[in-house]
Order: sequence, then structure tokens, then C-alpha cells
Amino acid sequence: MEPKVQGVINSLWKRFDEFEQKQEPINFSKWVSYFTYDVVSTLCLSEPLGLIQEGADNQKFIENVHRSFYWLSNTGFLPLSCQKLINLIAGFFERVFGLEIAGSVTSFIQFAASKINERRTSPSIGNSDMLDHFLKMKDREGKIVGDMGIYGEIGNLLAAGADTTSVGIKAVIGPILRDPPRYRRLQSELDDAYKASGISLGQPISYNILKDLPFLQACVKEGTRIHPSIIYQLPRHAPASGVQLEGFFIDPSSTISTSPLAQNRCNALFGDDANEWKPERWIPGEINTEEQIRFMDKNLATVSSRPPFDPFSMLDWTMLLMSVAQFGYGSRTCIGRNLAIIEMTKFLAEILTRYDVELLNEPKPWSIHSQWFAEIHDMMILLHKRGEGAYKG
Ligand code: HEM
Repeated sequence: MEPKVQGVINSLWKRFDEFEQKQEPINFSKWVSYFTYDVVSTLCLSEPLGLIQEGADNQKFIENVHRSFYWLSNTGFLPLSCQKLINLIAGFFERVFGLEIAGSVTSFIQFAASKINERRTSPSIGNSDMLDHFLKMKDREGKIVGDMGIYGEIGNLLAAGADTTSVGIKAVIGPILRDPPRYRRLQSELDDAYKASGISLGQPISYNILKDLPFLQACVKEGTRIHPSIIYQLPRHAPASGVQLEGFFIDPSSTISTSPLAQNRCNALFGDDANEWKPERWIPGEINTEEQIRFMDKNLATVSSRPPFDPFSMLDWTMLLMSVAQFGYGSRTCIGRNLAIIEMTKFLAEILTRYDVELLNEPKPWSIHSQWFAEIHDMMILLHKRGEGAYKG
């Protein structure tokens, strides 16, 4: 998996080098999405969607996913939910809001259909991808699943894995770029790791090395704690016997959930400074002890190192019921978690060792628009060659 991700990162750096040479500002919000969409497509279909190459979302893949989420995230909360509304009333709302749901997936279906046809006529030899698995998928009756089912699987992965990770990357890097002393600390931790491994700065580096860098890992945790990618609450049914939580009885008929944003900023869990971005809170001995960090980690609704679900643990049932979720919890947990962490970590390490990154448009360098995802828009950056002293941050 990592070599495929690396291939897409390398193609992004090629484009970023061009911007850097011309000293042209980059719409980082857009390019990070091009990157994460191209990664998912490469893993699924062994071919990127072509967003990095084209430098634009010409086929409206991303725009259409966003439109669909706007629709789905709102109708999903209606009393009868979208399914029951989909034909008559949904059609009306579609026209009123100009959502064009059906039309919006056409470009994606055309792309997926062409890949399915290609693969059926010339099956992959050796290096199989997700599409190879989808083509062998069977339904409950044991029959091979048709094209619609395959579109569904590919669409699911794109919708679940691209925007989530793209928001994660921006959430992690944004506060670093605004804080020169911590930026320098991270850059020097990375420079040392590159040196110790004999790798030239900005070149591909394995996640295996990066996973052991404490400040880098702390920045990933802290960025996603402060800004979870998904801030809509994922609903859960209470267990058949109900459950006692914090002095309240949750009735078996209840559907409940919690906000990852609120949980991640809870003073009782993360301290009085829970609203502040402070990566040091995750480094033993700097602000918190190891025990305090373990406690925070257990309660973090985002990139936690929490152990697997334990059916005998009250805390685990609480977490499951409360649907804590950057990556979810329990049996519906995110299947792309490891991929997302690898993408975020490698992206951060390579961009910060390859360039000096300057964030533009302070004091309001980005805007946030929440519709299921808490999307970070309009983040503009300027890249400088490392060591040329152009950026004094
Ligand atoms: C930072 C990045 C990501 C975040 C925050 C995230 C978050 C989530 C969350 C909250 C869920 C729902 C879990 C639940 O219902 O309890 C989920 C499910 C899922 N995610 Fe992710 N995800 C990320 C990256 C990815 C990636 C990269 C992929 C794959 C390419 C992916 C694929 C999926 C799939 C297929 C599901 C549905 C699992 C199921 O219901 O069985 N996700 N994710």
C-alpha cells in the first residue's frame, strides 16, 4: 500500500516544484483534495483520477461528492429520512436546491464503468487491487455482484476516504504553519530523522521511521483532536437492556450519539487548556505524565491508540454508545484508518523537509464549512526552497 501512496505523493511534489519555481501561491485546500482523491483511486483502480495531473477537478468528481454529502447529511436527519423521501419529495427538494443528485454521479459512473470493462477484458496479472476483489464479490445468495454493486463499493471508498483524509492533513498542518517555534521544532525533528536514516531531505521516507517521531505524532494527534474531519454525530442504538451512563439510564429504544468536536475539547478529559492547540500535551513529561496521556488517548475521539473493543469494559461500551468518532468505534470502525494515518504522516514529513511552507492570508488564512465533513477551504500557501532563507517563519 505505501509504495502506491508514495507514487501519488511524488506526482504532487512535481507539481508543487513548478509552483515553487514560479513563486506562485497554491490553493492548498484544493491540491490536498486532489492528492487524497488520487490516492483512493490508485488503491482501488490502480489509476489516479487524474486530478493532480490536470490540476483541476474538470470532471467534477469532488464537487459531486460534496453536493451529494450536502444532500445526504441533511436529509439523513429528517424524520422519515432520505430513503422514504427519495422519489417524490426528494425530487422536489433536488430541484429547489439545484442539487442534481442523479446527474452529479454521472462522471464518476462513466469513469468506474470504463475501468470495470477494461479489467474484464484484460485482468490484472500479479499486482491485484481493490477492483479485482470487487469483481469477485458475491451477494447473499452467492451470485456475483453486478456493476451497480461495484460502483457502490468504489463510490463508498471515494466518499469515505478522500475528504476525511484531506481535512485531516489540513487540520494537522494549519496550526503548525501559524506557530514558528513549533514549526521549527518539528522541522528539526524531521531533519534529524532524515539524517540518521541517510535519506536526503524531502525524499520518500518510510512510515516505519516516521511512526517513532514523538513530536510529529503529537502534531497529528493534536491537529485532528482540535479539528475532527467528521463533526456530524454518528447515531447508535442503545443495547437491548439499556445502559447506565454517568447516572443516567439510556433506554433501549434510544438512538444516541455525541459530538467528536465537543468530546475532544472537554476540560475534564484534556485539561483546562483543552481548547488550545498544544502538541506537547502528547509527549510524556512535557505537560502530562504517561498515565495522563494514556487517559487522554483512551478518550480521544480521533487518532487514538486505544486498544481493540473489550466487551467486558464499561468504558468501551460507553465509547461505542457515544459513537466517538474520528475513525468510529466497534464493529463499524473505519477500515481506512491505517491508510489515512500513513497519508497524513508522510505528507507532513515530506512537505516540511522538502520546502519552507508559508501560510498566506493571515489573520484569517482559511474558512471552515461543515456539512458532514468540516471542510477547510481557501487555505493558500507559498513554497520556498529549503535553506534559501526566503521564509523567516
Ligand atoms: C482521517 C481520515 C478518516 C476519517 C476521519 C475516517 C472516519 C470514519 C468514520 C467516523 C467512520 C464510521 C465509523 C462508525 O460508524 O463508527 C468510517 C467508516 C469507514 N471508512 Fe473511514 N475515515 C478516514 C479515512 C478513510 C480512508 C482513507 C478510507 C478508505 C480509503 C476509509 C474508508 C471507510 C469505510 C469503507 C468505512 C465504512 C466501514 C463500515 O461501515 O464497515 N476511511 N470512517
